[in-house]
Amino acid sequence: MNNSLLIKNIKQLVGIDENGRLLRKGSEMAELSGIENAFIYCKDGLIEAYGKMEDISTIDIETSNVTELDATNKTVLPSFVDSHTHLVFAATREEEFVMRIKGKSYEEIAAAGGGILNSAKKLQAMSEDELFDAALARLNEVISYGTGAIEIKSGYGLTVNDEIKMLRVIKRLKEVSPITIKATFLGAHAFPMEYKYDHQAYIKLIIEEMLPQIAAENLADYCDVFCDQGFYNPEETSQVLEAAAQYGLKAKIHGNELGYTGGVQTAVKHKALSVDHLEYTGDAEIDCLKNSQTMPVALPNCSFFLGIPYAPFRKMIDAGLPVCIASDYNPGSSPNGRMGFVISLACTQMKLTPEEAINASTINGAYALELSHTHGSISKGKIANLIITKPISSLAFIPYNFGSDVIESVVVNGNLM
Ligand code: NIG
Ligand code: FE
Repeated sequence: MNNSLLIKNIKQLVGIDENGRLLRKGSEMAELSGIENAFIYCKDGLIEAYGKMEDISTIDIETSNVTELDATNKTVLPSFVDSHTHLVFAATREEEFVMRIKGKSYEEIAAAGGGILNSAKKLQAMSEDELFDAALARLNEVISYGTGAIEIKSGYGLTVNDEIKMLRVIKRLKEVSPITIKATFLGAHAFPMEYKYDHQAYIKLIIEEMLPQIAAENLADYCDVFCDQGFYNPEETSQVLEAAAQYGLKAKIHGNELGYTGGVQTAVKHKALSVDHLEYTGDAEIDCLKNSQTMPVALPNCSFFLGIPYAPFRKMIDAGLPVCIASDYNPGSSPNGRMGFVISLACTQMKLTPEEAINASTINGAYALELSHTHGSISKGKIANLIITKPISSLAFIPYNFGSDVIESVVVNGNLM
């Protein structure tokens, strides 16, 4: 494939940073530097140069083998970094969706063996190859929607063999994917029915059997625990995270989705890279996050789809915190991985400005996956993963035009897809 791409006459090139910022926080979240009437030149998969059209002649551009693209009236921005997904799964769960419409809560369905346990039963019955094919199709779909780096979790296996099977699927996805994937072990996603009254026996299985094998096969980058009401309490969460840390796996936590249950405090105590969900975040959680390196991540699709509160991100940004948004693509609480819809929800429901929502889904997503040095902004030397919009009137049109295809094409590793 031709690996030299020149995009010219860009109406707005946004998300530029040459200061090596790893994240944006507080009032910086509203800063989204841009150039009007711009060009960007990608070479060997990386961003080589960009600037104003009037300065294009000052750049050393190859004379042959360059793909040229005209982006008149179009906006170009860095690809989304989706830092939280569960896109390896066996089956959809629309029957639970209908149960919720009729009045059952997510927690009631889970307590009765539905939810995560329902997904686990179906995944256990599916072969590694079938799971891989289905997950690859989802991955390619979200790449076409503008995702340029992604995290994928296990957590629908819940037995030693099936957690390993899921992680092997993610490892195979890494091998074929044009975008960077980070793998997270989430064996502590739920307690299987047979361990309902003996949590310690399942935690023992995680610590003594799953983690050593995962480490031996190098199957995970991070470790997650669903630290919430009806799932793992802070002590159980700490047990798993301490064991994972022995193998060098940093924490990324599901917390405060269902209540004020200590998820944030536990995440910060373990120096987690991120704490995700945060529908129940009060002053104590905000204070705790302020004194940490942990990125708060909201999953607005989940709030939308389950009809639960949205994380109070306006308050958190105003308190000086960085914030990140991700899709949570999974069959239970977010059966959709389009980051474009996530940024629309962040604006309409969480009162982020379009600039804040874009920073939350690009550079701050990159931070939550330790990818800020290569992803998340238009910076020389970073991987050339870009979104090109259709002709649009302004940046705000992207979240404004919710649910539709404002994205015309994407560039991955300097190649127009
Ligand atoms: O992030 N909350 C925990 N885990 C997933 C949902 C899992 C499921 O319902 O399948 C989430 O929303
Ligand atoms: Fe999740």
